[in-house]
Amino acid sequence: MPGTGDDLNNVLVSERELWLDGPPHALFNELRRGCPIHWTEGFEEFPEEEGFWSVTTAEDIHAVSRDWQTYSSGHGITAVGVFPVELTRAMFIGMDPPKHDRVKALFQAGFTPKRIAAHEDAIREIVIGVLNRFAPGDNCDLVADIAQPAVSRVIGSFMGIAPEDDEIWARLMNSTLGAADPDLNPDRFQGALEKDLPEIFERCRKLIAERRERPTEDLTSILVHAEVDGEKLEEHEIVMGFFLLMAAGNDSTKATYSSGMRALMEDHEQMHKLLNNPSLIPSAVEESLRMFPAFAHFRRTTTHDTELHGQKIKKGEKVVMWYVSSNRDETRYENPDHFDITRNPEHQAFGAGGRHYCLGTALARLELQILFQETLKRFPNIQINGKPTMVESLFLNQPKTLPVKLLT
Ligand code: HEM
Repeated sequence: MPGTGDDLNNVLVSERELWLDGPPHALFNELRRGCPIHWTEGFEEFPEEEGFWSVTTAEDIHAVSRDWQTYSSGHGITAVGVFPVELTRAMFIGMDPPKHDRVKALFQAGFTPKRIAAHEDAIREIVIGVLNRFAPGDNCDLVADIAQPAVSRVIGSFMGIAPEDDEIWARLMNSTLGAADPDLNPDRFQGALEKDLPEIFERCRKLIAERRERPTEDLTSILVHAEVDGEKLEEHEIVMGFFLLMAAGNDSTKATYSSGMRALMEDHEQMHKLLNNPSLIPSAVEESLRMFPAFAHFRRTTTHDTELHGQKIKKGEKVVMWYVSSNRDETRYENPDHFDITRNPEHQAFGAGGRHYCLGTALARLELQILFQETLKRFPNIQINGKPTMVESLFLNQPKTLPVKLLT
């Protein structure tokens, strides 16, 4: 495999070729054993971008995630990003405490497991509505035709978006978050910045104006009317707050559902186990989150010189936490590359316990359980019916296409 020579130090984890078919798990395995804190010099495609440290073990990622004073989120949150840092910083995922905590607190009450459970019937209705578009024996693409419309409507209903606009927003989220993939965005990062971002701002301005005039119960209204330290959020903070919630809601659950379903269809033993015992669905969801974390990494930047696992790191350097690696850390999991729906594992798919721990865990878990339940109830013999492809990205870990035949 390219890049994994004798000298791990010279490997570029960012090399595009390594990521064409999903994350380079064999390379991460070698890094965890031989060079757990690893320096990548830069990006072939973005020569102006600085290099980064890769953190690959669960224990080290936990340490980075919890120490926000040393590892800041305020200078960019991905190894290489679409947005200028001023915009990333306008989302609370790109802020440090205390402002981070104050903005996040605006939403936390609405995302507790109890409050989210109240949406169960509505979410189930959305999922069943999407599945009802198909008859037994139909062929479709599980990502585009089932996962996408279901997750878009769920997050759309939380944000107060009209159902007829779901497709537009899904396109905008896919072409910005997936800008590294020429199929998702032919104009790539430049296109995301020059075409998609202005469209997002334009469309958001309308939603903001409507909420200013007529406050509603949705999350967009919370952003528009929020007061943090006695001041309203600025317009770009509202737009980027909206973007954060939309992006997180649209992409992540779609990725985990599609990857988990693919693993089940590829492993008949696991599929049979689940069909015979549907009470294993919550555990199958956790195993899907572990093996296929929707976001391959998030990034921090050091605020002062420091040391991690014996490696000196200078102030201002990028530190990338590879969740795709830590979730297969052999010191935590037996046979980590094996998909085992009875494992019910702890994992770092939602972050590693620090301040930025995912806001949407309860919603994601409920949505995923319903997606698995209803799909398998209706089409228990669903089969892969063509070659699946993965999104080309260092950040998004998700199937791009997954052709299936829907069989009862
Ligand atoms: C399978 C589903 C999901 C996965 C794997 C996932 C993963 C993550 C991860 C890894 C982070 C931490 C980022 C970091 O370390 O800096 C995060 C943060 C976040 N997630 Fe999720 N997420 C999922 C679903 C959702 C959903 C449905 C929402 C709801 C809108 C959501 C909203 C957020 C928000 C707002 C943050 C930022 C939290 C903060 O900065 O304090 N996520 N998510």
